[in-house]
Amino acid sequence: MKKQAKRNSFKGSIGFVLAAAGSAVGLGNIWRFPYLAAKDGGGIFLVFYIALALTFGFTLLITEVTIGRKTKQSPLMAYEKIHKKWKNLGVISCLVPIIILPYYCVIGGWVFKYFLAYLTGNGTSAAQDGFFTSFISGNYEPVIFLVLFLFATSFVIFRGVNKGIESFSKILMPILILFVIIIAVFSLTISYTDENGITRTGMQGLMVYVVPNFNGMTVKSFFTVLLDAMGQLFFSLSVAMGIMIAYGSYVSDSADLKKSINQIEIFDTVIAFLAGVMIIPAVFTFAGTEGMEASGPSLMFVSLPKVFAAMGSIGNVVGCLFFAMVLFAALTSSISVMEAIVSSFMDKFKISRAKAASIETIIALIAGVVVCLGYNIFYFELKLPNGTVAQVLDVMDYISNNFFMPLVAIGTCILIGWIVKPQTIIDEVEKTAQKWAEKDYTI
Ligand code: PHE
Repeated sequence: MKKQAKRNSFKGSIGFVLAAAGSAVGLGNIWRFPYLAAKDGGGIFLVFYIALALTFGFTLLITEVTIGRKTKQSPLMAYEKIHKKWKNLGVISCLVPIIILPYYCVIGGWVFKYFLAYLTGNGTSAAQDGFFTSFISGNYEPVIFLVLFLFATSFVIFRGVNKGIESFSKILMPILILFVIIIAVFSLTISYTDENGITRTGMQGLMVYVVPNFNGMTVKSFFTVLLDAMGQLFFSLSVAMGIMIAYGSYVSDSADLKKSINQIEIFDTVIAFLAGVMIIPAVFTFAGTEGMEASGPSLMFVSLPKVFAAMGSIGNVVGCLFFAMVLFAALTSSISVMEAIVSSFMDKFKISRAKAASIETIIALIAGVVVCLGYNIFYFELKLPNGTVAQVLDVMDYISNNFFMPLVAIGTCILIGWIVKPQTIIDEVEKTAQKWAEKDYTI
């Protein structure tokens, strides 16, 4: 009893749900989901995604959170506690956030830079050709913004689970929803006539997004949509990177896990859907269907600023709200990544939170500077097996997403599905109900 009381825990289930949703809602919701939905036939992708979220997504998420709650350990130690021989899976699942944090903070720094540009009324300069490339390949600026974003993340982690993660999530997440709703509603009201005299409206853009487009659908494209939806789901729920185990270890034994997991999934999916309502109609109205071909960094840092510029003077305000929203989404995600690492260091080496957080901040800082310099003195062009040309950031992203995360996901499934059996997880999930029942009769 005494031993367990020492571990931090979320004060309430709302705190846990918002923190976990904060981790899940991130750049993936904003720059990947809308793009995939537009590419994969609108409504078809949405249906696949929701079906997968309710089945696979729910199972994976509840499994990880439950491993955390059952073992009361961080990812590095939790697998070992479940089964001695599976210690190495813990090592890999701790390695994933160590690889992700530096480059996630570099991108977070870019978002911060854009937010400041819009806040100071300089949105139009951000829309200029070459602005993004010259910024990220600069000598100092990317590093300065990396430091600011990383330190903001560390600050929250230093404050701990309740005063840091829980209380910040409770502030940032409601503001994020509010901004998303405001921008989405605005996006539906716009209309624009281009130089050819063609008028497009936000509502037409919404149709492109939600109405299923079966044109040219083949068996092959059916599987492409399925795989896209599956990949997006794993990434979006922040599973297979140790995060949900770390957060699960802070959930109280009396919390209703099923209910919380449902809420997290609904939160993540609704925000992803609304990100589409925000982005697709806006891009469609101002740039037509061709404008929707960009994804990832180029959608966010190149195409969208042009859309904001085309909106005229209100574009600066919308851009400011948008980048503030992305900043919050990225911050709550990076907080969760750092917590997975810091909690692992604390459990493994029995060191204080302050010490573990300081060590990880230094590691992420050094690696982050290398990522920044990947667009500067360390610039190279490496062709990846998927055909894209990569710099340091993309290589790190590729390694974590394509090797380590699938390994953790498959390993977890084998461990729980066949070695220790799903009943272990089911018992832990249903413990809440039993506890109450026991209390009723015995006390
Ligand atoms: N789940 C986040 C998203 O959808 C992504 C993420 C990646 C979060 C890595 C934390 C760590 O954007």
